[in-house]
Amino acid sequence: MANIAVIGAGYVGMSLAVLLAKSGHYIHILDIDTSKIKKINLKESPIDEIEVNNIFQDKKLNLKLEAAKPSSKAYKNKDFFIVATPTDFNDGSNFFDTSSVEKVVIDILKHSSKGLIVIKSTVPVGFTNDLNERLGTNRIIFSPEFLREGQAVNDNLHPSRIVVGGNCKDSKLFSKILVGISDTKDPEVLFVSSSEAEAIKLFSNTFLAMRVAFFNELDSFALAKNLHAKKIIDGVSLDPRIGRYYNNPSFGYGGYCLPKDTKQLLSNYSDIPQELIGAIISANETRKDFLVNHIKLNKIKVVGVYRLIMKEKSKNFRGSAVIDLIKKLCDQGISVIIFEPLIDKSEYLGWKICKNLNDFKLQSQLIISNRRTKDLEDVKEKTFTRDIFGVN
Ligand SMILES: NC(=O)c1ccc[n+]([C@@H]2O[C@H](COP(=O)([O-])OP(=O)(O)OC[C@H]3O[C@@H](n4cnc5c(N)ncnc54)[C@H](O)[C@@H]3O)[C@@H](O)[C@H]2O)c1
Repeated sequence: MANIAVIGAGYVGMSLAVLLAKSGHYIHILDIDTSKIKKINLKESPIDEIEVNNIFQDKKLNLKLEAAKPSSKAYKNKDFFIVATPTDFNDGSNFFDTSSVEKVVIDILKHSSKGLIVIKSTVPVGFTNDLNERLGTNRIIFSPEFLREGQAVNDNLHPSRIVVGGNCKDSKLFSKILVGISDTKDPEVLFVSSSEAEAIKLFSNTFLAMRVAFFNELDSFALAKNLHAKKIIDGVSLDPRIGRYYNNPSFGYGGYCLPKDTKQLLSNYSDIPQELIGAIISANETRKDFLVNHIKLNKIKVVGVYRLIMKEKSKNFRGSAVIDLIKKLCDQGISVIIFEPLIDKSEYLGWKICKNLNDFKLQSQLIISNRRTKDLEDVKEKTFTRDIFGVN
């Protein structure tokens, strides 16, 4: 069994940490957020993932897992370091802000002379190679993470693929550890260079964004021409090469990863000719502008926004397309009120939060909702959604 430090107790770090501990490894979770550390040491999940709590509460499992702040002591005697800290796209520099990853890696190298450093955070293409060179080491590899929030544990139990990028002597061993935590028999494992692995991550998310943008643009067309979007999408998707999945129109792609990963891939193209990658990003903006113009046709003064989350069971609204839509509505002089039970304040970014659903319905002339919900059954006639299939 290995001694593993997982740095960053978010969706990526926590889901991996509990599954690794479940498999018998010794896990040290390191995070700068003391409230998260407290929770983990009380065996409570610091993120909204039921499966993390289920593993914590399973009395049969004798998890060897503890949390602490990063320190020289915590970095000692580890076989592996899994880095899962945030990397947010910075519009000013046109690149991911990778400072948290770099800081962690520098600290690890300072305090430990052995142990493979595996970056799980999403980083630009070429980043790991460059970091190895800059820091005069060959201990850093990159292994992309493909989980979805809300299903993080399950996605690591049943990985679509395991990608290990970088040629270190322990890369194979690390892949075996990931295979070991999965419930899938013989998951597909790919060994590639770190830059290829970084590209796999960015191209995968950009493809998903492209699919969302495509069906959204189809839906805009149907809305403009007064055609049934569902009939068109059904007819298109019945071609098995296209498929009846991931084709449900929405207000735009969003969430923590797709917006920033598409922008990062575009910036990686810099001097390489491209049309499509940039078009995916602008299509997402055009979609939101189109919807705002459509809503404006109703000559409405107060729009109610049912939830800032984009998916039914989501517990956060990082990168939510709904928020972009609100900003665009406000730019057009339309007032908004928001029903979002995850917010316990009376305002959010200067917008009014209405805590009572009935009052919210009464005060809204039109209600917009990214996804259909039973909550709005009684006000169907004034609800605007583009959710056709009732799936996320
Ligand atoms: N959330 C996803 O669905 C998902 C999926 C695949 C890949 N990723 C990528 O994985 C990375 C992490 O994502 P996440 O959703 O788990 O992030 P998160 O924001 O949920 O969690 C990150 C954690 O890192 C901690 N942290 C920040 N700086 C630190 C430091 N210097 N030392 C120690 N801890 C620090 C934060 O306190 C936080 O607890 C990102 O690069 C993201 O793009 C995320």
